Amino acid sequence: MKVAFLGATKGMGRALARLSAERGDAICLLGRNDVDLERSAADLRVRGATGPVRCFACDLEQTETFAAAISAAREALTGLDAVVVTAGIFATQEELETDPALAERLLRINFSHTVMFCEAARKVLLDEGEGTLCVFSSVAGERGRKPVIIYGAAKAGLTRYLEGLDHKYRADGLRVITVKPGFVKTSMTAGLPPPPFAGEPDAVAARVLSAIDRGTPVVYAPAPWRYIMAIIRALPRAIMRRIEF
Ligand SMILES: NC(=O)c1ccc[n+]([C@@H]2O[C@H](COP(=O)([O-])OP(=O)(O)OC[C@H]3O[C@@H](n4cnc5c(N)ncnc54)[C@H](OP(=O)(O)O)[C@@H]3O)[C@@H](O)[C@H]2O)c1
Repeated sequence: MKVAFLGATKGMGRALARLSAERGDAICLLGRNDVDLERSAADLRVRGATGPVRCFACDLEQTETFAAAISAAREALTGLDAVVVTAGIFATQEELETDPALAERLLRINFSHTVMFCEAARKVLLDEGEGTLCVFSSVAGERGRKPVIIYGAAKAGLTRYLEGLDHKYRADGLRVITVKPGFVKTSMTAGLPPPPFAGEPDAVAARVLSAIDRGTPVVYAPAPWRYIMAIIRALPRAIMRRIEF
């Protein structure tokens, strides 16, 4: 598989890129920090990635970098089978309520600019004839919840966008995979108390790579979060107002 990763310098993206390299995929890394990108590329080469693992600048805060980065990856890999987006940021509801600039930045990075990046990726993958767009949303987008109102709103919007893409373009060869992680222990969640069923990046990566191979449209990871969220979705508002989940 020829795959471009946006956000694979850390966390679940790094775990997924490592698994992909270990089975011999050809990889390009997209991201905003040259040093981290080159360090990650060297790691993937050692793990068995096919070819040189090239890196290209792409910052979710700068829309002008999107199309150029995806085109550069396509050219370097002489084709593109998949684009994986794990880039994103997190801030607590308290931080976002007291810092409107941070809230606006998070909404931009996690929602509107991620959508614009996916639009650029969609065009290239459809132009290839077929391909997979795998994007990390969150269980936080499933229900309005007190601790993640703004972060969850961005992820809810992203989930709906990806669902629409899947409905419109699957018949044309675009497989859209929406990943909905629950709590996973990464740099993003460092310092937060892990709840029951907190996951590890490697286990999530194995589940997601299998979903990419099968074209599974929606993936909860770790698996129990599918059932947890089914219960949460069914709870009446009166209960949601009372609980702190
Ligand atoms: N961890 C969880 O519990 C959890 C739960 C639900 C959903 N998610 C979602 O899953 C995805 C991956 O999360 P994670 O925990 O693996 O996160 P992570 O360890 O913090 O890694 C995030 C990645 O995003 C990149 N990134 C951040 N801002 C960027 C920007 N402006 N442009 C380009 N790249 C940028 C980071 O690169 P730099 O090195 O440049 O910062 C890093 O590679 C995110 O979308 C997150 O919202 C996570």
